[in-house]
Amino acid sequence: MITAVAHNAMKVTDMQKSLDFYCNTLGLKKAFEISDDAGNPWIVYLKICDGAFIELFYDGVKDREKAYDSSYIGYHHFCITVGDIKPLAASLCQQGIIPSTDLTPGRDLNIGMWIHDPDGNAVEIVQYAPESPQMKSNKAIYPLGGKGYTGIGHTAFVTDDMDKALDFYCNKLGFQRIYDMPDEAGNPWLIYLRVKDGTFLELFYDGTKQLHLSDSSAGFMHMCLECDDVYKTVEELRSRGVEIDVEPSQGKDKNYQAWIHDPNGNKIELMTIDPDSPQATA
Ligand SMILES: [Fe+2]
Ligand SMILES: [Fe+2]
Repeated sequence: MITAVAHNAMKVTDMQKSLDFYCNTLGLKKAFEISDDAGNPWIVYLKICDGAFIELFYDGVKDREKAYDSSYIGYHHFCITVGDIKPLAASLCQQGIIPSTDLTPGRDLNIGMWIHDPDGNAVEIVQYAPESPQMKSNKAIYPLGGKGYTGIGHTAFVTDDMDKALDFYCNKLGFQRIYDMPDEAGNPWLIYLRVKDGTFLELFYDGTKQLHLSDSSAGFMHMCLECDDVYKTVEELRSRGVEIDVEPSQGKDKNYQAWIHDPNGNKIELMTIDPDSPQATA
């Protein structure tokens, strides 16, 4: 039903600074822009690789601190995968973004690094290891290695009710639970859900604090999940008891989209990509 994470969307406080970071520092490509109904600048689309984007919305208001604090319920970070992390690490080190190119594998065996964008959004960058639980969950051959960015590795949410979150993402949306990672003391910490080969959802336990955000708050806005037929997906989700916030319709970018939310109120866009859309032609 769900085939991919199509994009993650964020509001930014200073578009030029964010573009400088994501394009010049990280090397993502600006793909296209969408204006609002009045013709004003609205969204800038950055391409990670074919079929995977970041949406940057203008005019975010800075009303939260960096996203590293995992006691807050809701969005925590997103992860981009890269075929070979060494040249990227060397470039980021040279630019003074990371202190050293010494990257050690994490407990899941993947090699990663953490940085943050100009608004303080945490960005994880990962090179998958063949023996990692993520790669072992693949249904097909995953093209490990190679040049450049390879996809959205995951989006991470903190929840205060793991059972409810798992019911929503596994029983309703159909994601597969592949891996439970305890913390260093052996306590429940993180659950990995597979969306497709190479793309996952991270769910962290024990959110305790609620952020009070508005529609103009800088930072995470929504995660977009791609589906083959959004009308069928919406009917299926409705039959499973999911509340539909916005019924499917064709958007300004020609794609068909609908909106739902998870039990913690994280906004989720469902999208069927039209072959003539800017996302498909980018
Ligand atoms: Fe992560
Ligand atoms: Fe979106």
